[in-house]
Amino acid sequence: MQALIFEETEKVAAAAVPEPRIEAAGDVLLRVEVAGLCGSDLHVWHGRERGLDVGTVMGHEYVGRVVERGQAVDGLSIGTRVAGPFTTSCGDCFYCRNKLPARCERGELFGWVQGGRGLHGAQAEYLRVPLAQSTLVEVPEGCEPEAALFAGDVLATGFFAAELAQVAEGTIAVVLGCGPVGLCAVFGALASGAERVFAVDAVAGRLQLAERFGAEPLRLEDDPGAAVLEATAGRGADSVLECVGSPQATRMAVDLVRPGGAVAAVGVHTEEGFAFPPGEAYDKNLTYAAGRCPARRYVERLLWGLTERRWDPTPIISHRLPLAAGQDAYRMFAERREGCTKVVFQPDG
Ligand SMILES: NC(=O)c1ccc[n+]([C@@H]2O[C@H](COP(=O)([O-])OP(=O)(O)OC[C@H]3O[C@@H](n4cnc5c(N)ncnc54)[C@H](O)[C@@H]3O)[C@@H](O)[C@H]2O)c1
Ligand SMILES: [Zn+2]
Ligand SMILES: [Zn+2]
Repeated sequence: MQALIFEETEKVAAAAVPEPRIEAAGDVLLRVEVAGLCGSDLHVWHGRERGLDVGTVMGHEYVGRVVERGQAVDGLSIGTRVAGPFTTSCGDCFYCRNKLPARCERGELFGWVQGGRGLHGAQAEYLRVPLAQSTLVEVPEGCEPEAALFAGDVLATGFFAAELAQVAEGTIAVVLGCGPVGLCAVFGALASGAERVFAVDAVAGRLQLAERFGAEPLRLEDDPGAAVLEATAGRGADSVLECVGSPQATRMAVDLVRPGGAVAAVGVHTEEGFAFPPGEAYDKNLTYAAGRCPARRYVERLLWGLTERRWDPTPIISHRLPLAAGQDAYRMFAERREGCTKVVFQPDG
């Protein structure tokens, strides 16, 4: 089959690789209909995250149809369209039972094979999904595959950010970064009752989308702090949803939040230390929460909301491309060129 594989930093390639096969009784094979390119794939691309084996199939956002199942799987009949989170989960371990399926004891991240162990990704014609019964969710009739794609990663992460940042009725929130995750965090904050949501970025097209989704756009170069202070009688924001993953963004998040407020860091960080000293956290009575989204917890709810058009994140998709365009797509998304806010691959062409 054709797949996008990791070759080296800043290089992926469309290549012919062996089709995945059922390896365990709980596996399902999907024919991939759409596969997303996520900001998290860029950490590997840029070489900020290392260790991935050459030849690993990239990607962890997918919607597809069941084409084969292991003996232990029921319910997911052949032909069913499914979506799922970017990590697998058993549904039964300590973490799965305690609202953190992203840290499932048996879970794996799609698109991460290291030292020959791990799970290949979704930017391919076929995808093997272990623990399929507890990982996958049927896509409701009337929900487009491109919309469903958001439920398993970036929309879930946007809602998770709102939850971690304690957004509630009347909250004044700031979203840092208007990539797909930040744009979805605007939906998450508003759905959690935020009264006002400011959205910060340097890319004009992304700020326009944030505004269209209900946020008040603030250009990074225009001192976003002034607008936030003005809106809060000089206090600072109740909640900051950091959807970037850089020390600069962390620093800004702590600057913008009010004493007693909460910062949620869903951006993936690869730096060695915190961009703020512990004493500052103490002096500000700061809540700082971070981590991988337990996306499996959100998938059903989000699929229903997407089906009912309660939120429509599909305008975020700027490019629909075949796998053969993979290398150019990664570069374009990484460099934020040609109005690229999100790429989805269509392995069927
Ligand atoms: N926690 C999770 O489970 C989870 C899930 C998905 C993605 N992520 C992470 O979320 C982050 C965002 O993902 P994405 O797909 O939206 O990526 P992206 O790279 O498309 O978006 C990042 C955006 O941040 C903007 N930006 C950069 N520096 C900024 C700053 N200092 N202040 C404000 N904006 C700034 C950029 O212009 C860009 O628009 C990535 O780090 C990604 O790995 C985490
Ligand atoms: Zn992702
Ligand atoms: Zn588990």
